[in-house]
Amino acid sequence: MELLGTTTIFLLVCIACLLLFTTWRRTSQKQKQPPGPTTLPIVGNIFQLNLRNLPESLKKLSKEYGSVFTVYLGPQKVVVLYGYDVVKEALIDQGDDFSGRGNLPLIKKLLKEKGIVTSNGETWKQLRRFALTTLRDFGMGKKSIEERIQEEAHFLVERIRNTHAQPFNPINFLVHAVANIICSIIFGDRFDYEDEKFITLIDLLNENNDLQSTVQVQIYNFFPTVMDYLPGPHQKLIENTEKLNQFVQKIIAEHQKTLDPTCPRDFIDAFLNKMEQEKGNGHSEFTTETLSRTTVDLFLAGTQTTSITLRYGLLILQKYPEIAERMQKEIDCVTGRDRSPCMADRSRMPYTDAVAHEIQRFIDFLPFNVPRCVIKDIKFRDYFIPKDTMIFPMLSSVLYDRKEFPNPEKFDPGHFLNANGTFKKSDYFMPFSAGKRICAGEGLARMEIFIFLTAILQNFTLKPTVDHKDVDISPIVSALVNLPRPYEVSFLPR
Ligand code: HEM
Ligand SMILES: *[C@@H]1O[C@H](CO)[C@@H](O)[C@H](O)[C@H]1NC(C)=O
Repeated sequence: MELLGTTTIFLLVCIACLLLFTTWRRTSQKQKQPPGPTTLPIVGNIFQLNLRNLPESLKKLSKEYGSVFTVYLGPQKVVVLYGYDVVKEALIDQGDDFSGRGNLPLIKKLLKEKGIVTSNGETWKQLRRFALTTLRDFGMGKKSIEERIQEEAHFLVERIRNTHAQPFNPINFLVHAVANIICSIIFGDRFDYEDEKFITLIDLLNENNDLQSTVQVQIYNFFPTVMDYLPGPHQKLIENTEKLNQFVQKIIAEHQKTLDPTCPRDFIDAFLNKMEQEKGNGHSEFTTETLSRTTVDLFLAGTQTTSITLRYGLLILQKYPEIAERMQKEIDCVTGRDRSPCMADRSRMPYTDAVAHEIQRFIDFLPFNVPRCVIKDIKFRDYFIPKDTMIFPMLSSVLYDRKEFPNPEKFDPGHFLNANGTFKKSDYFMPFSAGKRICAGEGLARMEIFIFLTAILQNFTLKPTVDHKDVDISPIVSALVNLPRPYEVSFLPR
């Protein structure tokens, strides 16, 4: 008894000291910190947050604490920006201050900090500038990116035709088609859909997708050091991503052997040339490590995002057959049935364009954005935010703004249409974020979404396996992204 009593008192004193210490630390800083719920040491706000649906928890907290508030994901401090005004102010008006990438432990572990998505400072600046110009250059080569997408859309349509209106899960067809576009840019060529190497690569990717929505992976972001020692799906995720990296390294080695500096075939060749140019520079950012990480970044960022958007879009269109039908009428009218849709058609297809936008708004693919950080001590709306603080500029708070998009929970192409039926642009359309680190593949992704979607509807009518009213379009919320529920669908040739 005696012993138990002393231990308990000792523990209580320890906890009290920790609590005092944290409050002292918070109040001792002269400048005002963004408000937030009371925090416990080590576990942070874990008890106020629903790990299974973090975006929803943050929405609730924003009602209580306003548009700028602090939460602790375990020991990790995060300042959340909630609402168009603060998101825009941070990403655009104060864009330089907020241009850092805040790496969640999971992202840090998976992608290291050497690629374009995860790096900071000079490395990021140079890699981003290089990637943007190189992506543009390869789009203007002998075959434009638009033509490649049209060509791939053709392969996709033929492949779908071969399913003879039998229901199936379109996940692989869509991933293969989208992956091939980025593959042709970074590796120089598309893969055949039956290619063993390609299939292995895509299987890894798909498996990673499923792994990402497990509880262990969510918890990893809170307690990485502990989770590193425990077995589980998060370990598999880390292992798979390393395999992906090795796959890319092999392709790079092949490129090195066959490189003709006067005639770069793809992104990797262009990068190898750049490495050669900067050979004398001891501080060059262009190394084999940044090459393989950047290539993996482009492959991951360029595949998952767009294919999931398409897969989700096709699910939504099953729920609203009248919307799909109206798109088909517009496609028939503008491109007809024989010619592939192209980007020049878009301006004459306001309804289809509005649907493509509404899909991206509604699915809210990256609700937290990809986390940022501030690159120095800053003042933001009277608050002091110290250097390296992680920032969530919540895209969901912009895409679901009630004033801009009345009834935001409803899927309604009218959100992007004027009363006279013309396309209505919106500054709140931010699925690609905004400012200095805005998605580097935005143009590419928008082309892919428009061309693949129209090519599919030009050729097929979607038939769900359940009554269309029962199609469930609510998301599966995973660690970082909103995913559609798995489904099967029949593509009826028109
Ligand atoms: C529907 C498709 C896509 C969506 C919704 C999307 C969304 C995003 C978002 C929200 C970010 C974070 C931006 C920020 O920090 O403010 C991002 C970054 C990025 N995206 Fe995309 N993306 C898509 C497709 C693509 C494609 C096809 C590529 C291929 C080139 C790509 C490459 C990148 C890269 C390289 C970054 C990092 C940029 C940086 O840190 O400077 N994305 N994307
Ligand atoms: C349609 O309406 C929008 C805004 O309401 C206007 O800017 C545009 O000029 C109109 N277009 C036509 C063709 O009437």
